[in-house]
Amino acid sequence: MAINQPLPLQGVAIAPSILSADFANLGPECDAVLAAGADWLHVDVMDGQFVPNITIGVPVVRSLRKHTNAVLDVHLMVDEPIRFVDDFAKAGADIITVHAEAATHLHRTIQAIRATGAQVGVSLNPATPLSALDYVLEDIDMVLLMSVNPGFGGQSFIPQTLGKIAALRQTIEARDLNVAIEVDGGVKVKNIADIAAAGVRAFVAGSAIFGAPDYAQVIDTMRGQIAKGIG
Ligand code: DX5
Ligand code: ZN
Repeated sequence: MAINQPLPLQGVAIAPSILSADFANLGPECDAVLAAGADWLHVDVMDGQFVPNITIGVPVVRSLRKHTNAVLDVHLMVDEPIRFVDDFAKAGADIITVHAEAATHLHRTIQAIRATGAQVGVSLNPATPLSALDYVLEDIDMVLLMSVNPGFGGQSFIPQTLGKIAALRQTIEARDLNVAIEVDGGVKVKNIADIAAAGVRAFVAGSAIFGAPDYAQVIDTMRGQIAKGIG
């Protein structure tokens, strides 16, 4: 079941990362994955500082907002993201996710996102412990667990992420919160059932979707695997 809604997540969201799309053909690429059954568009913003790559920014989100009603899931891999929160919200981001490692004042950054009306995500790099979320989990809508070191598409899923997902899910349940878990990096048809079984409901996939000849076929197969994993 496609949801095409932002958080709180009632179902499953498959979010193709446009980082792996053909940037010279971005509008039609987005239309194609959405027609193929994608729920959200995941937008990877990189600043060449927090991560060793530069990608896209506010103008691209603004153009996408004019082009589609789909949920724009904006992942800011930038130092001190609070500087850009208002701009991305005004451009039309539905979900704004910042890295705990990149925000000196994470709580203030979360408040700044909330004030815009966008939904709030916090991301953790693979080596960052879940304890970084201890004092903010009540204030956010989603945790984005990185399953690769951010910076590039096409890397391999780090297997320790599965235990981290399960531990986070336990914490969220124990604290009786409604916080979604999203995972990003190396998500493929072959591992998505295990990722779902561990507790993820929002799945970012770049190369696995945009690198496939038939977007609908891979998204359908992923959805079937997710259903198996959830059981
Ligand atoms: C990694 C990005 C991811 C990446 C995922 O820095 O945040 O969204 O594009 O790409 P794949 O699915 O190819 O690992
Ligand atoms: Zn991402």
